[in-house]
Amino acid sequence: MSVKKITVVGAGHVGATCAQLLAQKELAREVILVDIADGIPQGKGLDQWESAPIEGFDTRVSGSNDYESSAGADIFIVTAGIARKPGMSRDDLLKTNAAVIRSVTGEIKRLAPESIIIMVTNPLDVMAQVALETSGFPRERVIGMAGVLDTARYRSFIALELDVSIEDIQALVLGGHGDTMVPLASYTSVSGIPLTQLLEQDRIDALVERTRKGGGEIVGYLKTGSAYYAPAAAAVQMAEAIVKDKRRILPCAAWLQGEFGMSGIYLGVPCLLGENGLEQVIEVQLDDNERDALETSARHVRSTVEALEALQ
Ligand code: NAI
Ligand code: 2OP
Repeated sequence: MSVKKITVVGAGHVGATCAQLLAQKELAREVILVDIADGIPQGKGLDQWESAPIEGFDTRVSGSNDYESSAGADIFIVTAGIARKPGMSRDDLLKTNAAVIRSVTGEIKRLAPESIIIMVTNPLDVMAQVALETSGFPRERVIGMAGVLDTARYRSFIALELDVSIEDIQALVLGGHGDTMVPLASYTSVSGIPLTQLLEQDRIDALVERTRKGGGEIVGYLKTGSAYYAPAAAAVQMAEAIVKDKRRILPCAAWLQGEFGMSGIYLGVPCLLGENGLEQVIEVQLDDNERDALETSARHVRSTVEALEALQ
């Protein structure tokens, strides 16, 4: 795939950071920021483009309040909506953000029916479903960002605990993007050494718990919003895997069609990402505790979908 255009919808904290990273990595010829806020996408887009001579990238960055210049875009990273404030769960964002995602996805379908959507807006798993249903796109082209971020948080905490390089830590976090997410100690290793050989179980449990609450930890510090540097880096890593057809296996929210014994739900699972978007869901063996945890997480996602249906 020769990527000419990536549009980031929502020019707030996550969206603007995504645009800057996409440009610095030259992942497309053109990056467009779209937001309803008057002047914000235009101002941030121009400011980023003015950094091009210093950073040395040729990706043209611009901003707009409408979608016309995004016609035919290859990828949309969707970050539009409201973010968490202290005391709010991701699910509190439900009704407002569902309306935003329906409207945004309608525009994407109208102007770029062959594009790939990377959903970021929360509650993530449910917003990905709203985008899938509104667009009518196949599941290969509507993928949710959560697992890359959750796994990065888990890896970053392990690196601090062991005082080793982040580069050597491999891990996997499955499930919905919420406090029921499932960090898998059995798939976590440091240079191939199982984590269980390096840390006592109570320390692993503490890192898993910190990972589950990782989003809330940042909200607690920021007070007026939620995390954006690591989330943007995660969304851009997914875009890079698609743009460069890298066939990376990354944990992403995918619409399950029988994998892991589940159907009709977005859930974080290992996904092979390539030029067509989601190329394959990779099933892995889970022990009884891990399967129970994944099912608990799935129940939470389903209850949020039901809560949204009840609000309609
Ligand atoms: P933000 O408030 O900084 O930015 C959101 C932007 O969306 C604002 O600029 C707003 O004007 C814009 N917007 C609202 N309605 C719109 C519409 N109809 N069309 C276009 N733009 C619209 O929020 P932030 O921090 O960038 O977070 C964005 C979303 O991403 C939130 O829902 C947040 O919870 C979610 N998020 C998800 C993560 C994940 O792991 N999946 C991680 C971090 C954030
Ligand atoms: C996070 O995990 C709020 O979902 C966002 O940081």
